[in-house]
Amino acid sequence: MRRGFDSHQLKGLSLMCLRSVSLLLAALSTLAACGVCPAAEYHAFRPGQQWLDDNGEVINAHGGGILHHEGVYYWFGEHKIAGRRGNTAQVGVHVYASTDLYNWRDEGIALAVSDDPDSDIVRGCVIERPKVIYNATTNRFVMWFHLELRGQGYAAARSGVAVADRPTGPYEFLRSGRAVVGQWPLNLDRTPERERWTQPEQDDQQLSRRRRRRDPDGEIPFFYFDFPGGQMARDMTLFVDDDGAAYHLYASEENRTFQIARLTDDYLDHAGDFVRVFERRLMEAPAICRRQGKYYFLASGCTGWAPNAARSAVADAVFGPWQELGNPCVGVNPANGLGAEKTFGAQSTFILPVAGREDAYIAMFDIWRPRNPIDGRYVWLPIEFTDDGYQIRWRDEWDLSVFDKP
Ligand code: GAL
Repeated sequence: MRRGFDSHQLKGLSLMCLRSVSLLLAALSTLAACGVCPAAEYHAFRPGQQWLDDNGEVINAHGGGILHHEGVYYWFGEHKIAGRRGNTAQVGVHVYASTDLYNWRDEGIALAVSDDPDSDIVRGCVIERPKVIYNATTNRFVMWFHLELRGQGYAAARSGVAVADRPTGPYEFLRSGRAVVGQWPLNLDRTPERERWTQPEQDDQQLSRRRRRRDPDGEIPFFYFDFPGGQMARDMTLFVDDDGAAYHLYASEENRTFQIARLTDDYLDHAGDFVRVFERRLMEAPAICRRQGKYYFLASGCTGWAPNAARSAVADAVFGPWQELGNPCVGVNPANGLGAEKTFGAQSTFILPVAGREDAYIAMFDIWRPRNPIDGRYVWLPIEFTDDGYQIRWRDEWDLSVFDKP
């Protein structure tokens, strides 16, 4: 005959239930901690929150950029690992694919670091801000990235170039080097007092080394000293204009001044013509888009991994002149309490035009975690254009319907 539980048995049962619940919670938190969770289907962007790929792994594509090709988006970014060592390239450039921008399929490592100690991209070098563009003439995918040689800190300031026949790679590393070697900028100031800059002398290399340490903002800008060996290029992006001309935009001259250089028709090298822009404005993290015949620029100030206020600018041509507009950010990220003066705790990396939608552009940022880079987060927010510029407003959650016309 079945009888009810006495109070002793009931207490035992509830203890068992409590134990099972806590075991379940512990298992779930272990899964979350190691980054492996059941794959979710997303219908919205949640800036700053963990974002999982189709395998339930945290998306690992920092300082990234996106290529849209034949109906598919390809997201390329720095593959980070846990711990401080993750600030150097231990794996390479990761690529993910998506058709809706919310859900991303892991396509593996597009460009792998090398185990050859003589390679420029040997494991332990620094590979940052990779960007990929498609060349319609050669039918090849071209990747550019900021490269620092292993063990040399950020002194090399080189650009790396790699190519592939398929968007997801594997990419073949071609070479790395300084930019626009032996070229003067198109917008060189040729006033008599600055004319001396166009005649580099031997002694100037010495002067340059001293200056870089002691007087980085001396009268003669660094591009003059770098004429023979090539211009420095650190934070960077690529941009293909409507006429097929491609441009490399990079923080140059010890991050003091930006340069914009046109690429050759096959996108594999600098063509030679370039301009200096935002002189001595100390900008990094460039992103650019074209909208209704105007070019819009987004960047950050220069404070390493720590966030600062974003910058914006507008121009009628890629080579400028560029007019600076100020900080486009509005609002506060409630997760860290940081607002526009710190770009919500993030730094820009790319502006993504949404395919097939008029006037739809997404500003992509990274929240860096230099002590544990693999835990860096992504902040994607819609750009709202105004009569004289644009705004980027914080949103906890949003989807592409924000771009629907009323
Ligand atoms: C940031 C830059 C990153 C990385 C970092 C290193 O300012 O945007 O790409 O270079 O500095 O400190």
